[in-house]
Amino acid sequence: LPPTHTVTLKVNNTEKQLQLAPWVSLLDALREYLGLTGTKKGCDHGQCGACTVLVNGRRINSCLTLAIMEEGNDITTIEGLAKGDALHPMQEAFIQHDAYQCGYCTPGQICSAVGLLSEGKAKNEHDIKELMSGNICRCGAYTNIVAAVQDVMQQKGDPAN
Ligand code: FES
Ligand code: FES
Repeated sequence: LPPTHTVTLKVNNTEKQLQLAPWVSLLDALREYLGLTGTKKGCDHGQCGACTVLVNGRRINSCLTLAIMEEGNDITTIEGLAKGDALHPMQEAFIQHDAYQCGYCTPGQICSAVGLLSEGKAKNEHDIKELMSGNICRCGAYTNIVAAVQDVMQQKGDPAN
């Protein structure tokens, strides 16, 4: 058997200890060891963004990092965004704007969009398109995805919200 290591990750606010071979990606740790299959595997080499999660609040491609490198880190997946029955505003906006078709890219799009807004760099539609360009949608739902992200960006920018 290959050597394994104990890896502790805080996943969606719950501490998890896993015994993992050193080459297990964060994506596989989430999907295969923790059963969190909301995070999708598209290309498995950093080209599609389907595997995007938040690590300490920053979006990353979970297929490109080893679980062992994330020791002690705070991981948020699509399963961790809602608060009980209350969806995250970005999830709500994707529904409102019909921002998906098959849904395969959607968890990654939503996690990426949440990360994008906390980065605070996007000021307009052009910026959203540019800064979401790591998330590919085979169905071409881009127009509605951008509209959903823009909607939440405006809600956040509006002091009434
Ligand atoms: Fe990670 Fe495609 S599965 S970028
Ligand atoms: Fe099908 Fe984006 S909704 S890949």
